[in-house]
Amino acid sequence: MKPPKTPGFATRAIHAGQEPDPLTGAVTVPIYPTSTYVQQGIGENKGYEYSRVTNPTRSRLEENLAALEGGIEARVFSSGMAAIHAIVTMLKSGDHVLCGNDLYGGTPRLFNQVMSDFGLEFSYIDTTDANNVERAIRKNTRIVYVETPTNPMMRISDLAAISAICRRKKVALVVDNTFMSPYFQQPLALGADLVVHSTTKFLNGHSDGLGGVVVCARKDHAEKLAFLQKASGAILSPFECWLVLRGVKTLAARMEIHDRSGRTVADFLSKHNKVEAVFYPGLIHHPEHALAKRQMSGFGAMISFETGSLKNANKMLKKVRICSLGESLGGVETLISHPATMTHAGLGPKGRKEIGITDGLVRISVGIEDVDDILDDLQQALDAI
Ligand SMILES: Cc1ncc(COP(=O)(O)O)c(C=O)c1O
Repeated sequence: MKPPKTPGFATRAIHAGQEPDPLTGAVTVPIYPTSTYVQQGIGENKGYEYSRVTNPTRSRLEENLAALEGGIEARVFSSGMAAIHAIVTMLKSGDHVLCGNDLYGGTPRLFNQVMSDFGLEFSYIDTTDANNVERAIRKNTRIVYVETPTNPMMRISDLAAISAICRRKKVALVVDNTFMSPYFQQPLALGADLVVHSTTKFLNGHSDGLGGVVVCARKDHAEKLAFLQKASGAILSPFECWLVLRGVKTLAARMEIHDRSGRTVADFLSKHNKVEAVFYPGLIHHPEHALAKRQMSGFGAMISFETGSLKNANKMLKKVRICSLGESLGGVETLISHPATMTHAGLGPKGRKEIGITDGLVRISVGIEDVDDILDDLQQALDAI
C-alpha cells in the first residue's frame, strides 16, 4: 500500500492544528480566554495548568505554524520582536551572534541597545556572499542570524550554502522568513535550525494584531523556548492566536495574489521615468535574481524603489490614496512607507548609508486590491514629483 500523501500547503494551512472541536464539532478553533484551569487533585489536570505556560488556542496555532514551516514545534510570542528576543535569550553572556547587515531596524536596536548590555556580542556582515559568513564566524559564535530577502533592500542570501557552513562550524542558523512566509520559502528544508516570523505581517495578513513565532527543527530549541515562554511570559493572547489561525487559512490564496500583483507593480515601477531604481528579486537585473528563483517559489509583495530625494518621496507619499502610508507590511491592504524616517530611522544616517537606504527610498507592500487601482494610485502619486 502506498504511504498516505502529505497534504499540500493550502490544505495544511486550513486543517493542521485546526481539526473540528472534539466537544462540539465547531469547525473553527475555540478561543479559550482563561488564565487558569480547574485541577482534579494535586498533580492531576487535563494537561493545562496556567495560560502563560499553555493554552489550547495557542497550542493549535503552534501546531499549525510548525506544520507550515516543516518544523517539529513552534512557539508563539506577543510580537515578532518578542520572538527574536526569546531566541537571543537562549544564549549566555560572552556568546556572539553573527548577523546580516540589512535587517528590520528593530532587530539591531534590540541587539545593540538592549542585549549587548547583557554581555552578548553582535557583529554585522553582508551575508549575500556566504564566504563572508565562513570568515566572520568566531570561536564564541552561537547563532548566524539572517533575513532574506532583506528589509528594505531586498537582497537575497543563499540559505543552503550558509546552513552548510553553520553545520560544519556547529552554529545555529536563524532565518527571519517574514517577507516570504512559508508559502514561498522554507528555510528549515534548506538546513536552517530556527525560523522566526513577525506574524503581524503575512501570516495574520489583516493588519489587526501583533504576534511572533519561532519554528524549531530541534527538540532542545523547542524545549528551551517553551521554558522561556513560561519564565518570561511574552506569550500571544488566545484571541490574537485565533486571529492568526483565521488569517493563515487564506495564506496560500493571499500569497498568490500578493506575488502576482507584486510582479506587476515592480514591472510598472521599473519602467516609470520618475523612478530611479527598483529593488525586487523578481526583476532580471536584481543581483541575486537567479538565487531567488532557486530558493523561493515566488518573489512576493515587497518592493523598494528610489524616488531620488526626501522631497520627492514626501511629495508622492502625501498623494497616495489606495496605498496607505504607514509602517508594517503583509496586510491585505497596500502599505507604503519611508524606511529612512520610519522602520530604519534608528540606524542613523551612517548606518543607513552603509546598506544603501537613501532618503528617497520608498518601500511598498503590495496588497490584494485590484492591481489596476494600485497602479493608477502610484501613477497619480508619482505625477506629483
Ligand atoms: C522582517 C521583520 N522581522 C521582525 C519584525 C518585528 O515584528 P513585530 O513588529 O511583530 O514585533 C518586523 C516588523 O516590521 C519585520 O519587518
